[in-house]
Amino acid sequence: MATSTSAQPRDTWGSKLGFVMAAAGSAVGLGNIWKFPYTAGESGGGAFVFIYLLFVIFIGFSVMLTEFAIGRKTGLSAVGSFKSTDKRWTFTGVLGVLSGLLIMGFYPVVGGWALAYIFKVGGGLLSTPEAIGDSFGGFISHPMQPLTWMGIYLLLNVVIVMKGISGGIEKAGKILMPLLFVILIIVSVKGLMLPGAMAGLEFLFMPDFSKVDGNVVLAALGQAFFSLSLGMGCMITYGSYIKKKENLVQTTGMVTAMDTGVALLAGIAMFPAMFAFGMEPAAGPGLVFVVVPQLFAEMGGAVGLVLALLFFIGLTVAALTSSVSLLEVVVSYLIDEKGLKRSTAVIGSSVVMGLLCIIASLSLGGVGPTLFGTGVFDIFDLLTDKIFLAVGGMLVCIFAGWRLSRSDLEKEITNDGEISFPLFGLWYTLVKYIIPVAIAVVAVMGIKSGFDSGKGAIMLLGIGIIVLTGIFSKKL
Ligand code: TRP
Repeated sequence: MATSTSAQPRDTWGSKLGFVMAAAGSAVGLGNIWKFPYTAGESGGGAFVFIYLLFVIFIGFSVMLTEFAIGRKTGLSAVGSFKSTDKRWTFTGVLGVLSGLLIMGFYPVVGGWALAYIFKVGGGLLSTPEAIGDSFGGFISHPMQPLTWMGIYLLLNVVIVMKGISGGIEKAGKILMPLLFVILIIVSVKGLMLPGAMAGLEFLFMPDFSKVDGNVVLAALGQAFFSLSLGMGCMITYGSYIKKKENLVQTTGMVTAMDTGVALLAGIAMFPAMFAFGMEPAAGPGLVFVVVPQLFAEMGGAVGLVLALLFFIGLTVAALTSSVSLLEVVVSYLIDEKGLKRSTAVIGSSVVMGLLCIIASLSLGGVGPTLFGTGVFDIFDLLTDKIFLAVGGMLVCIFAGWRLSRSDLEKEITNDGEISFPLFGLWYTLVKYIIPVAIAVVAVMGIKSGFDSGKGAIMLLGIGIIVLTGIFSKKL
């Protein structure tokens, strides 16, 4: 710091915070507040959370730093950064685009739920607490209602990405994210004061390793990648906007800490209340939409209502700042590599996403095709979160470790030696050897135990798709 402070310290701080907030905007989203609690609930609680935290620290942090470094070094987005270095690696970027497309095949469905709940809460949902659970079940299995909200949510994404006004949503995020954080704290305190709440904390933080199998470990890895927006080139794209003088290590640390903090807080907000209400921890994807309204109903009165409204507004904005980053990865590929106009790219890709979302949303009401007994919503989730992101992260590490030079990486991460990063050697060893092997082991274990539930075949299909992407990459 001492070397460069005299010029414009305020500016530097301002822009750094701006970047951290943008990257955190991508990371903090439905993954933290919707996915983390229900996945922890379905995966047995404490042991899952423990493994997830280990993965965040040792794998997530390192992969994020790698993605930022690749992005800043090449100055290009997902596909371009690989392609410009070595054409044979183009497929890694393309795999990321495919992940983005598939995640956007279900993310807007849940984003639509969040949006709908602003209006449901406004329309008096809290006044009949006993009906909140049934109301959610009825809502998502209704054919038209969730589709309408999904459509509106996706349209918001289109408008934001088309006009390139993501600055606006980021500004909204800067106000609403801290607010959401505060509301989560209030909800946590309220939940913890309910009788029987401690059982929820125990469930979340006391590891019971007898519950761990390959499925749980892979779920924890997938959750770490999904929540941190890793493994599909999203943070490579963000990295390409980071200024040369900024500290990548510190930025990575801040984004990782914020993202993980919000996820844990969401867990603390929900599990104690769930146990107090006598609900099943494995309640599934509806968890946040059932537990949180019940807690606010419990608070009662205008305070409960206002906080509930702000919660779902905050959740919707958090979801938007994440989904626009997903859409942008696909759009910038179509613009940069396929020469499409921005408007064509946005409309074309969101029409495809919208169609995928329609099938995904209907599958929750038991309508439409299944594969090995699994509906489309779950298939998209399985393919991306369990396979594509993890393999994508593994490929990013192999690329950095074996295709880029150690000294170039060191220069990039230390800003040509200006910043000291004493753990560089450890990071490099993790990225070059340990993480690729660890991910391969976890994936094999996960696929193996996935066969007990019919999910293994779908995960293998995912591996097949990756191999095909590799084979046909010359055409991409
Ligand atoms: N991390 C976001 C969330 O938690 C979702 C997301 C945005 C994402 N961009 C991504 C997930 C890229 C994987 C890859 O809601």
